[in-house]
Amino acid sequence: MTQLFTPVHIGRLALPNRLVMAPMTRSRSDDAGVPSDLVVAYYAQRASAGLIITEGVYPNAMGKGYVRTPGIENDAQVAAWKKVTEAVHARGGRIFMQLMHCGRISHPSLLPEGAQPLAPSAVKPAGQAWTGAGMQEFMIPQALDVAGIARIVYDYGLATRRAMAAGFDGVELHAASGYLPEQFLSSGSNNRTDEYGGSVAKRTRFVLEVLAAMVAEAGSDRVGIKISPEMGFNDIVDAAPQETYTTLVEQLREFKLAYLHVALFGTSTDYHALLRPRFDGAYLIGGGLDQTQAETLIAEGKADATVFGSAFLANPDLPERLRQGAALNTPDKNTFYSPGANGYTDYPALGANQAQ
Ligand SMILES: Cc1cc2nc3c(=O)[nH]c(=O)nc-3n(C[C@H](O)[C@H](O)[C@H](O)COP(=O)(O)O)c2cc1C
Repeated sequence: MTQLFTPVHIGRLALPNRLVMAPMTRSRSDDAGVPSDLVVAYYAQRASAGLIITEGVYPNAMGKGYVRTPGIENDAQVAAWKKVTEAVHARGGRIFMQLMHCGRISHPSLLPEGAQPLAPSAVKPAGQAWTGAGMQEFMIPQALDVAGIARIVYDYGLATRRAMAAGFDGVELHAASGYLPEQFLSSGSNNRTDEYGGSVAKRTRFVLEVLAAMVAEAGSDRVGIKISPEMGFNDIVDAAPQETYTTLVEQLREFKLAYLHVALFGTSTDYHALLRPRFDGAYLIGGGLDQTQAETLIAEGKADATVFGSAFLANPDLPERLRQGAALNTPDKNTFYSPGANGYTDYPALGANQAQ
């Protein structure tokens, strides 16, 4: 059991181990999208990860999709995130910010006054949004016009600039889980007939433009992307996902990104076999992994690093626990998104030296 604890390079970073903390929404920020000091403590506790990827952060106010999620669109948010990066770096860690625009997976009560959720097309997702007033039906989103798309692309660039100003080591584009980028990628949510819809090459255009904007600000070796082919979450459907994702990943090549992060859930297609040969940067695999699976993926050279979500949530010192073969704390689903320290910063570390 040593493979997970060998160093690896991701972009310009040298990671001491192959254990990456997955992006996880925790809803501990205030209504203005400013992370609280608890957020600082939570990430600092987990600084022994090879790399932390933050929870999804909205690049502009129209990208918000859940209550108490954080943003990176103004100075107050930048200042709060700066405390997070400083605390993680002071403990020897590395941290990327995940940029997450929810698109149609939102609700007017979460958005600026009078705004409707935005999407590539006016296709309502099945399901409900999690708002300040409880669960509310999703609605028919407003289809973006080309100027609206350009504005969002620009805002991803600005958000990247702010993330770098806040001291992040890089940024990850959330193009998974049925949010705006995947809404463009997927035939079920994108029925546009302009240059952003129709053929696969047109459906990938939005993602490529956003990546170009992010790379222009951070440099290609400080940008990664997360995808989750066939996950189906948030009512996302694509008619030919193998074609969509192989095309996308081939198009990513020119960007020379730091990494491709692929989280698979319940698909019988071996996307890793399809996608890894098409990508030159670091390849990260996540989605329901246990230690044995992660060891095997690294040992067989199928991944450069492995991504753990709920295990990191419940175990601030996950790398040390895995190294020792120690028992793991069990994640408590009831406190995944609840306010306060309970189920957030109070999972115990091994021994008496729990980080604060
Ligand atoms: C509480 C919670 C919040 C999550 N929020 C996000 C998110 O903001 N962005 C994202 O890309 N994935 C999110 N995910 C998915 C995780 O990144 C990861 O893909 C998933 O948990 C599978 O890994 P695991 O089985 O190791 O937990 C979330 C998962 C959990 C448990």
